[in-house]
Amino acid sequence: MTQVATRVLFVCLGNICRSPQAEALCQNYVDEQGLSHHFELQSAGTGSWHIGKGADPRSAQTAKSHGVDLSSHCAQQVNANNIAQWDFFVAMDCCNYDELTRMGVAPEHMILMRFADGEQDVPDPYYGGDQGFENVFNILEHNAGLVMQHLLKKYSSN
Ligand code: 4NP
Repeated sequence: MTQVATRVLFVCLGNICRSPQAEALCQNYVDEQGLSHHFELQSAGTGSWHIGKGADPRSAQTAKSHGVDLSSHCAQQVNANNIAQWDFFVAMDCCNYDELTRMGVAPEHMILMRFADGEQDVPDPYYGGDQGFENVFNILEHNAGLVMQHLLKKYSSN
């Protein structure tokens, strides 16, 4: 049987700080686990300000210091016109989740990145210092495998 990859979108506000890291960490997990054929991973922001730009240099530098490469990132926006391109959504915080709901995404097609660790939001680091980016990376690194295992169970019939 031909396998159809599940198209997953990681969503934050600007698509330059949190969701590019989430995408890269989850892609690394999927590659390491030999699950690449199951998933097609992308990221996007609910805002349009940074469309076409690379990752925020602070986010890229933090990721690089942990061996994760964001150099090929190109920011895009998720909106009501393109939402049908993805099967499932992983929101970085409750605001992103609510925005996706307003775009028409059903609860069964999305989760919060921190769904499993007793917290909810991956805090927005944009207006803070370097420590905020390190904190975000650690949160995302901790949750990447949990999220992908959750999705693997949900879509294991693929
Ligand atoms: P992100 O961070 O949502 O993690 O990419 C932000 C990036 C840009 C802005 C806010 C948050 N901004 O206001 O431009």
